[in-house]
Amino acid sequence: MKLDIEMVRDNLENSLISELKYYDSITSTNELALDIKDSLVKECMVIIAGEQTKGRGRLKRNWFSPQYQGLWMSIILLPGQKYKNKLSLLTLIGALSVHEAIKKMGINSTLKWPNDILYESKKVCGVLSQFKSVGDKINRVVVGIGVNVNQKEFDDELKGSSVSLRMIKDKKINKEKLLIEILNNFSIYYGLFKKQQFNNIIKKWKNEMDMLNKNITINSLDGKKHRGKVIDITQSGELKLKLDSGKNKTFIAGDVSIDKKFLKY
Ligand code: BTN
Repeated sequence: MKLDIEMVRDNLENSLISELKYYDSITSTNELALDIKDSLVKECMVIIAGEQTKGRGRLKRNWFSPQYQGLWMSIILLPGQKYKNKLSLLTLIGALSVHEAIKKMGINSTLKWPNDILYESKKVCGVLSQFKSVGDKINRVVVGIGVNVNQKEFDDELKGSSVSLRMIKDKKINKEKLLIEILNNFSIYYGLFKKQQFNNIIKKWKNEMDMLNKNITINSLDGKKHRGKVIDITQSGELKLKLDSGKNKTFIAGDVSIDKKFLKY
């Protein structure tokens, strides 16, 4: 069923969210959010789609976004230059906002740095942040959030790696309620970000992620693989590892796999 966007608007609490725009079918909410003219963009404007025909995932992957079965949305942020070293935190805030909403439903999800929410090692939600720059200045950040909500099943390609909230709870999920919860959480955490209370966000993340002190492999942006133990998330949202060589190294982005012996599922 189509999202009741009026109902969502009416139930946002103390919200920083300035506008909700709903489209029944578009290519990608991130694409649209990046393409909107500067003169029409507002801080904390949210673009939501009933379906995406070309949903984007990380690492140029597709994001499967079937009609009315998930929450497919992008939040447009205009944080300004003074936060340019902190922009990675916006991805973490997106994931944390969804994670807390899901946990409130009684689901024992975990956060996987930097952008995944997992349930028993399968993906319930992914976050893709993209930036629009003018010269060397970032003038817009788009935090794209995809939540698998009401799919009854996934096709062969995804069924080993994805799960929906409906499959976990064994009942249809109210998307409006979930969206309200996510946007209210996002307002709280983005509020902290703007007050430069970065440590409060990081502390929450570290508490909720299931990676501290675990051995992982990361494929980093330089195309290299690094192995080590997760020892921290820095104040800029980077992952800090104690590498097998004994040296410490931080990563701003990368594809992480957790060593099998640490996985329960
Ligand atoms: C990932 O690869 O895990 C990130 C997936 C992000 C998907 C969301 S759905 C809404 C927004 N629009 C897109 O095209 N992608 C993001």
